[in-house]
Amino acid sequence: MPPLLNASGCLDALAAPDVARSLDAFVTKTVTPLPRDGNAPVRIAEIDCGMLNTIGLANPGLDDFVCDTLPRLLELGVPVWVSVGGFRAGDYAESCARLDDEGVEAIELNVSCPNVESPVEATEEIVAAARAATAKPLFTKLSPQLPDVAAVALAAARAGTDGLSLVNTLRGLALDPRTLAPVLSTATGGVSGPVLRPVALAAVHACYAATGLPIVGMGGVETGRHALDLIAAGASACALGTILFRDPDAPARVRAELARTAFRLGLEDPLAARGLAHREAEMPLPSETKIPAKVD
Ligand SMILES: Cc1cc2nc3c(=O)[nH]c(=O)nc-3n(C[C@H](O)[C@H](O)[C@H](O)COP(=O)(O)O)c2cc1C
Repeated sequence: MPPLLNASGCLDALAAPDVARSLDAFVTKTVTPLPRDGNAPVRIAEIDCGMLNTIGLANPGLDDFVCDTLPRLLELGVPVWVSVGGFRAGDYAESCARLDDEGVEAIELNVSCPNVESPVEATEEIVAAARAATAKPLFTKLSPQLPDVAAVALAAARAGTDGLSLVNTLRGLALDPRTLAPVLSTATGGVSGPVLRPVALAAVHACYAATGLPIVGMGGVETGRHALDLIAAGASACALGTILFRDPDAPARVRAELARTAFRLGLEDPLAARGLAHREAEMPLPSETKIPAKVD
């Protein structure tokens, strides 16, 4: 069974410890070396096909996180992945060095800022700096907005990332229907939820083909079928994001649906589907099971 995680920023494990314990690992909200207030309200809006947010990396800063939040997270008994962010390679190196002696399972490098001018070079520099600072497994999280996400994934691989987290949000805008003014304080924000599904699939598909690295797939996953699609595209684990705001029981449900959907396709373990989207078109599924016209 592929590991099921939460997407960074979509679950407060200390407020909902049982939800965190229903996951195979808990991923923290992105932490930066210095505290950040984040953006002014309004920071979250519902949209037709998902959610729009402009949290702005609000977090207590690395010191406070390591001394206060992390010990309490580790007490939950769930493996903890820490998401780190910053504005230069040194920020990532500093956070990784500080976390190297802590009991965290992995570090996710949130290098998703789509505004970077040369994302290949910037990502390679950040991952190399992080790699030099820690022996912990590193997962590099990329934006789906990159012009060539596979090229950036390859750069992260060259610099020593152990895996990829795909994908972060896409930039979007929502207007108030009465005033026609932007709903969010920053006008645009990150779009998440169902609208991201095909975008995430394409990014996972491209990056698996380019790198073969372990991939945590995310973007609009709401059912076991959505998770299985990501695995077939190349993911080795899945993360639940926006769905957790609406359905905190999603982890157990998605896991059960995933097992059932894979089984119906003749796959003993959902992970056996990994990469199947890349096989020759005429190749049958491993079981050669006849697939019903409609499966859930
Ligand atoms: C409210 C909110 C806060 C988020 N905060 C972070 C964050 O701190 N770091 C990060 O890497 N991604 C953050 N994300 C992006 C998610 O981790 C995930 O990549 C994205 O939402 C796609 O998954 P989903 O469609 O299942 O939500 C946030 C998303 C939302 C909705």
